[in-house]
Amino acid sequence: MQVRVFNNKDEASAAAFDIIKDGMQNGAKVLGLATGSSPVTLYDKMVASDLDFSNMTSVNLDEYVGLSGDNDQSYRYFMNQHLFNKKPFKETFVPNGLATDADNEPARYDKVIAEHPIDIQLLGIGRNGHIGFNEPGSDLKGGTHKVALTQSTIDANARFFANKDDVPRYAYSMGIGSILKSKKIILLAFGESKADAIKATVEGPVTADVPASALQNHDDVIILVDKEAASKLSQK
Ligand code: F6R
Repeated sequence: MQVRVFNNKDEASAAAFDIIKDGMQNGAKVLGLATGSSPVTLYDKMVASDLDFSNMTSVNLDEYVGLSGDNDQSYRYFMNQHLFNKKPFKETFVPNGLATDADNEPARYDKVIAEHPIDIQLLGIGRNGHIGFNEPGSDLKGGTHKVALTQSTIDANARFFANKDDVPRYAYSMGIGSILKSKKIILLAFGESKADAIKATVEGPVTADVPASALQNHDDVIILVDKEAASKLSQK
């Protein structure tokens, strides 16, 4: 794992942008993308750039079960708003929250990934070391799967919905095995709240207790962090 520490999110996101740009100049055709706050500055830079994504394919990490792409809480909506509506891609894949054959959606999505092998996968990380919706205890080798959200995630999401019953109970997520198939992985983490997770990911043992620690098993991972997220690393 390569860890690069920056003064702030803007500098780290600029470095992530350069990695994507270099990758595209060297033939990368498929980007694995994430939602959440961590990649937003990078997406802004992609939008503001003169890079052409019209020959690029994207494959997103996860989506809530039961939400349509028009729902402003869906990850499809997030991606359209932050990136795809502003920078058109050739094709964009997000798990289908409204899949009629819900049992088959994980296998369908794994087929999408197999048919579009990811050149560069972008990740954020949860405070507990989750990547995608792979919470502590997840299978470190698994493919796409349906995840039951923890009560704390459901409670945290409730503020975004008019009615608590509307809060999704499940999500589809790429598995850690799917993520590890990507050729290159970039993980972004900002702020002190991520410092424990970054330390455990980089310096701890590979363990299902910290799903991101499985990235130690991949030979091309670049972790881009600000000073705060790096603050608990023993080697600076
Ligand atoms: C998002 C995702 C999540 C987030 C993580 C960090 O698609 O899969 O694992 O990357 O929860 O979220 P932020 O960036 O909001 O701190």
